[in-house]
Amino acid sequence: MSETFQTPKGVHDILPLDHEFHTYLKKVVRHRARQAGFRRISTPIFEYTELFKRSIGDDSDIVSKEMYTFEDRKGRSLTLKPEGTAGVVRSYIQNGMNQWPQPVLLYYFEPHFRYDRPQKGRYRQFWQFGFEIIGESDPALDAQCIQLANKINEDLGVDGVFKLQLNTIGTPEARKKYMQVLQDYYVGKERSLCDNCKARLSKNPLRLLDCKEEDCKILAEIAPPMRDYLDKESLAYHEELKEYLDELEIEYEENPKLVRGLDYYTKTVFEFWDKENGSQNAIGGGGRYDDLVELLGGQSTPAVGYSAGVERIIANMKREKVRVPSKDDLHVFVAQLGNEAKKKCLPLIEELREVGIKTMGALGKGSINVQLRLANKFKVDYAVLIGITEVREGTAIIRNMEKGVQETVKMEKVTERLIELIGDKNLDKYSPGELLYS
Ligand code: HAM
Repeated sequence: MSETFQTPKGVHDILPLDHEFHTYLKKVVRHRARQAGFRRISTPIFEYTELFKRSIGDDSDIVSKEMYTFEDRKGRSLTLKPEGTAGVVRSYIQNGMNQWPQPVLLYYFEPHFRYDRPQKGRYRQFWQFGFEIIGESDPALDAQCIQLANKINEDLGVDGVFKLQLNTIGTPEARKKYMQVLQDYYVGKERSLCDNCKARLSKNPLRLLDCKEEDCKILAEIAPPMRDYLDKESLAYHEELKEYLDELEIEYEENPKLVRGLDYYTKTVFEFWDKENGSQNAIGGGGRYDDLVELLGGQSTPAVGYSAGVERIIANMKREKVRVPSKDDLHVFVAQLGNEAKKKCLPLIEELREVGIKTMGALGKGSINVQLRLANKFKVDYAVLIGITEVREGTAIIRNMEKGVQETVKMEKVTERLIELIGDKNLDKYSPGELLYS
């Protein structure tokens, strides 16, 4: 026998049961997004590598270690998108969205790719949904973005597991000054740092503040606080944001060490941390990025956004025993005996499906008993049985699988009777016309 294939390391199939969670999440996100005026956008799975380098930053972990980068046949460097914001901003500029009414509100639900070290909650292909508000700067917009994230956590039943962490990292100029202060502070202390932090110190010293290694944490604890070096405007902006969050009764924890792993942020940054495990498995994060549009070649345009990890949310929904509707369950199983019966079954199955009765037909050669056992395994509510006698008499048997009782019905009345039994509101109707307006 030849060797069987496995998925590559760090990626996984989304099996039918998990798709029920995915579908539910997508619906919640779509519902909340529409309520708030967001429109959906999809950007390509890959973009020019330079886009991510310039936006996320050359020295970030994502760009320096985690990108899936390859050359196409003409030698152009392309990268599978490791996050969504850069592509959305590229699209905003490319499609002249600055001519649309501002701010432009966009949302997405897409797969992303990072060459991360695989572990629980960390994959190499993962799904994110996200929101971007591009075109205006006001702490009220940051508050709305956080409120939307919060609402979705509530809808999905995971709000109790996570705590909002909030910080401001000021303007790039103020941050530059502070980075120098940090580098000076660490002079002579390099030996106590982990290898990762040693490497980050010269180029990305802010990241030393949120390192999880014990010694690095102790040093970060007593480092000069960033707030002392931030510009007045950013600090005032932050105070106003907190007033709005209080007004909205959104709980948060001020976390002066929160810096985020992407370079494009200005002022507000936030993350939802697991109450027990802290930053390890944050379900989502975001912040303001007022300089990114200009950095990518557009006019100076402020923006704020958020994205969340779908797999991590689903894992927490399962942990919290949140149940999602199972729309895939079948209503009816059609069993038959003999060729003549099979001929009657095919149009019946078609008719049942057309009215929205989710129907499966056992069209193989098994005995009625074997077919009924199958019907049980599929957990259908009703089975329709057609044998030689029924064909001769123009009837069918409808069996209530749970109660084990059955009735004989005229063939042309089967659909009508099943609709009655299942209930109109439970049907899975498909009407392209209706779908257009639903
Ligand atoms: P991020 O914090 O890098 O932000 O990612 C957001 C979320 O994606 C994380 O909180 C986590 O739930 C999920 N995630 C990230 N990496 C993985 C992974 N390897 N496996 C599973 N889940 C993962 C961003 O991506 C920014 N674009 C957020 C943003 C939007 N900022 C402004 N607008």
